[in-house]
Amino acid sequence: MFLNVEEIIARAAPLAWPVYLYNSIGSTNTEAIRLISDTDYTAPFLVLAEQQTTGKGRRGRKWISPFAQNVYFSLVLQIDGGLQQLEGLSLVVGLAVMHSLRALSVHGAALKWPNDILVGHKKIAGILLELVGNPIDICHIVLGIGINANMQASMEIHQQWTSIQLETGFPIDRNYLIAKLWLQLQDYLTRHKTFGFIALQEEWERNHLWQGKAVSLIADVNQIDGIVLGVDRYGALRLNLDGVETIYRSGELSLRLRDDSRVRLWE
Ligand code: BTN
Repeated sequence: MFLNVEEIIARAAPLAWPVYLYNSIGSTNTEAIRLISDTDYTAPFLVLAEQQTTGKGRRGRKWISPFAQNVYFSLVLQIDGGLQQLEGLSLVVGLAVMHSLRALSVHGAALKWPNDILVGHKKIAGILLELVGNPIDICHIVLGIGINANMQASMEIHQQWTSIQLETGFPIDRNYLIAKLWLQLQDYLTRHKTFGFIALQEEWERNHLWQGKAVSLIADVNQIDGIVLGVDRYGALRLNLDGVETIYRSGELSLRLRDDSRVRLWE
């Protein structure tokens, strides 16, 4: 079944933001950024595609985006509350994605700091936030979300991955998933805007797969070994390094489990 804007909007009522659906596009995030600078388009709006030819992942990676199989979703919001509105935002988006997956019977969906969604060691969804403009003035944020929905095979993904269909054994209606995700996001973004990340910090930690685990944090050629304590009120990672609590902000960091050869492909 193909994506259908009317169906998504009907299911995501009362949300009534414009939806722009493309058959094939380079990247829904890049297209969203292009539309922000076009005065005919006013945020909030949602960009969707059946296929991305140059889908973007974190840290310069490609996001494999085959036609009519998965979800490529970029929600554009205007941010007018300054930098504090961005604190922990990507982690909150992760919670919304996780709950949408669980609502589709992917009960094992959980979080990996900063914003991966895994089932066990396998990645099922990823999040790429892009900021446009000056965060201390008016700016826009693009919440880019990729979910492996009905994909069953790919020779191109060089890490452990799964999809909703692989987990449940059934193909899903992507229109339903998108509506669910959109409603979840609306709920979590409202709570985040009203109360800040601090109100969601404990829920995030409860769903963090690697809470209390021995990990290595990789930044370029540097490796830091520690135990995951959790996240702070801004969404930064708290690690125990030989008895000393140390805080790491997101950015270009990558986290790996130690003593577990199955996750080597996360590099
Ligand atoms: C990651 O590396 O985990 C982030 C992946 C983000 C992929 C999504 S798909 C929709 C949006 N458009 C893109 O080009 N990337 C994001």
